[in-house]
Amino acid sequence: MSGATTPREGYFAPRAGRVLCIAHRGARSVAPENTILAAQRGLEEGADLWELDVQLTADGHLVVVHDDTLERTTDVASRPEYANRAPWRVCDFTLDEVRGLDAGGWYHAADPFGQVASGGVTADDLALFPGLRIPTLDEALAFTADHGWRVNVEIKDMTVNADGSPGSPTYPGDAAVVRAVLESIRAHGLTEQAILSSFRHDYLRHAAAMEPALALAALVEDVRPADPVALCRDLGVVAYHPGDDIVTEADVAALRAMGVAVNVWTVNEEADMRRFIDWGVSGLITDFPLLCWGILREKGLA
Ligand code: G3P
Ligand code: CA
Repeated sequence: MSGATTPREGYFAPRAGRVLCIAHRGARSVAPENTILAAQRGLEEGADLWELDVQLTADGHLVVVHDDTLERTTDVASRPEYANRAPWRVCDFTLDEVRGLDAGGWYHAADPFGQVASGGVTADDLALFPGLRIPTLDEALAFTADHGWRVNVEIKDMTVNADGSPGSPTYPGDAAVVRAVLESIRAHGLTEQAILSSFRHDYLRHAAAMEPALALAALVEDVRPADPVALCRDLGVVAYHPGDDIVTEADVAALRAMGVAVNVWTVNEEADMRRFIDWGVSGLITDFPLLCWGILREKGLA
């Protein structure tokens, strides 16, 4: 994979000698995750790109939301009209229904990173959250393109829910999902500014066949692959996105020697950021981009 000749292979080449700061679901420590406001905060905090999660609605629209249910990050459970729709799966709601939900008001009471209690998120900030909407992928990509920014689009595995139940009976198939995501990325002129990742590696295989110019990343969690280099070669990806608890210093060295970028998630503690930087990672996916940016700047790596 070294000796890059295509945009996919060359995606990380202009960033050699730097470490990317990647805002996880936007700057989700200081704004409701996966909203345009969270993206805006990530941009303001110096992130090189933001990461977002994509799923399909019941009527086949791509929306930016992490969980396979709407309960945690919207007001769906308190809405009388949806009282009999539990567990409120994204794949059972239409785009119109999803767009009618409040995706920001939950943050204040949940205070997911203690930023309300600590004052990191102020009353003025909080006033902006109620009424935020779940973005469509198109809206998220339009924001990215309008700001000359970059994005890591993660396609969630829509064939199975977190509770083990099967996904929607109307699931159109892996190829159709990937095709729709690629069309949206292309429509916004972001093919060379985006990285596509997924835990469902079949999505990556489809993307590799459909769009040679798009950078792809293998997401892995929980169990370290026996041979991360072989995995990345097999998938044809230019980046490896491991959970911070399964990546090793030797993996980072081996992958980077092969020209594969290593972007670790989710790295929120300063000591961990410094350790992974010392290991030679190419990027840090973090809920605290401002902290990350500060360290990278101090080290001349931003
Ligand atoms: O892409 C890195 C990370 O976002 C993957 O895990 O659960 O936060 O989407 P998750
Ligand atoms: Ca994600």
